[in-house]
Amino acid sequence: MIRFADVSIKLGDFSLKNVNLEIKEGEFFTILGPTGTGKTVILELIAGLYRPDAGKIFINGADAENIPPERRKIGFVYQDYALFPHLNVYKNIAFGPQLGKIPSPIIKERVKDLADMLGIAHLLERFPGTLSGGEQQRVSLARAFIMKPRILLLDEPFGALDPNTKRMLCRELKKMYLQYQCTVIHVTHDFSEAGMLADRIGIILEGRVRQVGGSREVFENPLDQKVASFLGAEPLKTVFAG
Ligand SMILES: Nc1ncnc2c1ncn2[C@@H]1O[C@H](COP(=O)(O)OP(=O)(O)OP(=O)(O)O)[C@@H](O)[C@H]1O
Ligand SMILES: [Mg+2]
Repeated sequence: MIRFADVSIKLGDFSLKNVNLEIKEGEFFTILGPTGTGKTVILELIAGLYRPDAGKIFINGADAENIPPERRKIGFVYQDYALFPHLNVYKNIAFGPQLGKIPSPIIKERVKDLADMLGIAHLLERFPGTLSGGEQQRVSLARAFIMKPRILLLDEPFGALDPNTKRMLCRELKKMYLQYQCTVIHVTHDFSEAGMLADRIGIILEGRVRQVGGSREVFENPLDQKVASFLGAEPLKTVFAG
């Protein structure tokens, strides 16, 4: 579905070096790594906000070079929610489909379904500034899913939330992902979030993908000392508790 073939990019002092990755259709893939290692840059390359200096990215077998960002059918959910402050919740969720040619009764129905699924039906008239972090993140998930993306990029979506809210939202996200059948690339530095969500995990350290594997496999068998010391602090039963 998404393939990085020897992708490199230099941004200021930072370099992403020779990244090779293969993300399968329909899988939930988590990129796990400490801060400043290039996780967001990888998502922005997939979204088409950056172009690689070297190497190639393929989306569905096609060279991404030839697919303009707006035609990639990608949804992007940011850590800071990025909702429109001057639009109420309904209008935030309906924003994307309203730009297209979708008739408004259909938009209304889709907003209602998503709002029910995410437990935000009572918030549709409210403005983002009046919502809690967890509520805002539910709205931004609804705003992404309503576009029925083929690929959903999640950049530390639950970073700012307390552990219980995070666990609840992880469960809801997993349910939505199964229902909408998209491919998810999720970025986090949070081990428990990775453990709760990922089918496979890619560990990234200092701009390099160090290890890719099943989520338990990576925690149980770190490939080398660097991966081990990054993962080392967390006992397995905490990571997979959710
Ligand atoms: N346009 C840019 N120009 C210069 N440097 C950049 C640019 N974009 C990103 N960087 C640098 O590249 C490095 C990797 O950034 P990135 O945002 O991918 O980190 P990250 O792994 O997502 O970290 P975090 O977990 O803190 O979000 C950082 O040092 C960042 O400052
Ligand atoms: Mg980031």
